[in-house]
Amino acid sequence: MDYVEFKNRLMESQCAKCPDLCRDRQHIVVDRGNSDAKLMIIGEAPGEKEDFLGKAFVGRAGGLLDKLMAAIDLDTNRDMLIVNVVKCRPPNNRPPTSHEADNCRPYLEWQIQHVRPQVVVLLGATAAKHLMPEEKGRGMKERVGRFFNLAKYPQAKFFLLYHPAYLLRDPRKIPETVEHLKILKSHLFLEEERTHESAHC
Ligand code: URA
Repeated sequence: MDYVEFKNRLMESQCAKCPDLCRDRQHIVVDRGNSDAKLMIIGEAPGEKEDFLGKAFVGRAGGLLDKLMAAIDLDTNRDMLIVNVVKCRPPNNRPPTSHEADNCRPYLEWQIQHVRPQVVVLLGATAAKHLMPEEKGRGMKERVGRFFNLAKYPQAKFFLLYHPAYLLRDPRKIPETVEHLKILKSHLFLEEERTHESAHC
């Protein structure tokens, strides 16, 4: 199955694994962006606008994500694939429960395994909690702006950023995030050089 088929099947699946999430859902939100990109972004869950439009990160937090990525010359539709831990909007935008994240995990795992990103950016504490259980107990502050390895996905480097919704609530953290983005950008640049060199060996 290719990515387009996966996406279409999931969008049309009427998945009903999470009673709370499928009850008032308008769309199963699979992603936004480019599934051939080497960069994947993982957020928490769709919000109201995402649920309405069927696309990830198209509300206020998405607008800020677009601006932050543009600050390092990346286009959110061209240079990355943006996905979420869960594909349906939780009521009142509450964080997804561990049970809901587990129910939705096969879809996220399929995306990571088949897109094979070189770098995966986790946005915020919820994505960190569900993707890096071994890092549990360590606060965001100690972990943002750093790369991690996850044994399950040895082909990718993982990097943690503050969630844009958190930055909208506390814009004082934006300059720090821009510094983190510069670290991310230089890693992506090195990866690109390495890929380019090995193609010419
Ligand atoms: N917040 C998220 O984590 N994901 C979205 O798609 C939108 C807002």
